[in-house]
Amino acid sequence: MADEGFTDPRLAAIYDLFEGDRSDLAPYLAVATELGAATVVDIGCGTGVLALQLASLGLSVVAVDPALASLNVARAKPGASRVRWIHGTATDLPPLQADLAVMTANVAQAIIDSADWSATLTAAHSALRPGGLLMFETRVPTGQPWLRWTRDHTHQVLDGIETWCDLLDATGPLVTFRWTTVFPAGDRLTSTSTLRFRSRPEVEADLAAHHFTVTDVRDAPDRPGREHVFLAQAD
Ligand SMILES: C[S@@+](CC[C@H](N)C(=O)[O-])C[C@H]1O[C@@H](n2cnc3c(N)ncnc32)[C@H](O)[C@@H]1O
Repeated sequence: MADEGFTDPRLAAIYDLFEGDRSDLAPYLAVATELGAATVVDIGCGTGVLALQLASLGLSVVAVDPALASLNVARAKPGASRVRWIHGTATDLPPLQADLAVMTANVAQAIIDSADWSATLTAAHSALRPGGLLMFETRVPTGQPWLRWTRDHTHQVLDGIETWCDLLDATGPLVTFRWTTVFPAGDRLTSTSTLRFRSRPEVEADLAAHHFTVTDVRDAPDRPGREHVFLAQAD
């Protein structure tokens, strides 16, 4: 289930502020354009930044997320009526015959349970037409990026809102951390998350087991060496 950073209305409302320019989404837009995709599914769409960009290009977009507060932020944005928003996970998607399914900003890592991950891949496959493409990213575990998920490395103040992260636990593939947010009036909210780190061979095996053929594993241009970006075709 999504954590408070996405489900609490006050935290969902400031997600975009702290996510910055979203240059991480450019490779997804580029692939949608290169493919000439007509229909795109955005799994774990959050506040809908990519879904809205794709819809503004005239593509048919279905965007799904289990965090209602984040979806509500998305639904309130200009152009939101062009997107079909679904409250749920990939398993709640209708039949679509989509050309492209995406999971941006490490959504895949938020799906920590093996059964949920399997269900997500099965549902993504069902949402795609034969030959359709699944594209998603996951952080490379070898550099142990979580070692920098500390107050010293993450402290920020934007629009008078202070945030920082504390690493709570890193055991095996699971990393748990807590974001603290302090609003200008002094209100303090916390959000605790657990992410699963998967190696490249593990993801490749998972994709093969769910009837995908991996066509490419790229670097993320905005985070060189730190992400694996998988492109896999539905068999
Ligand atoms: C870091 S946010 C990324 C949001 C969006 N993709 C973006 O690029 O801004 C992770 C998102 O994954 C969603 N999420 C968590 N568990 C999920 C699941 N099982 N299926 C789909 N989305 C999930 C959260 O609600 C949250 O919106």
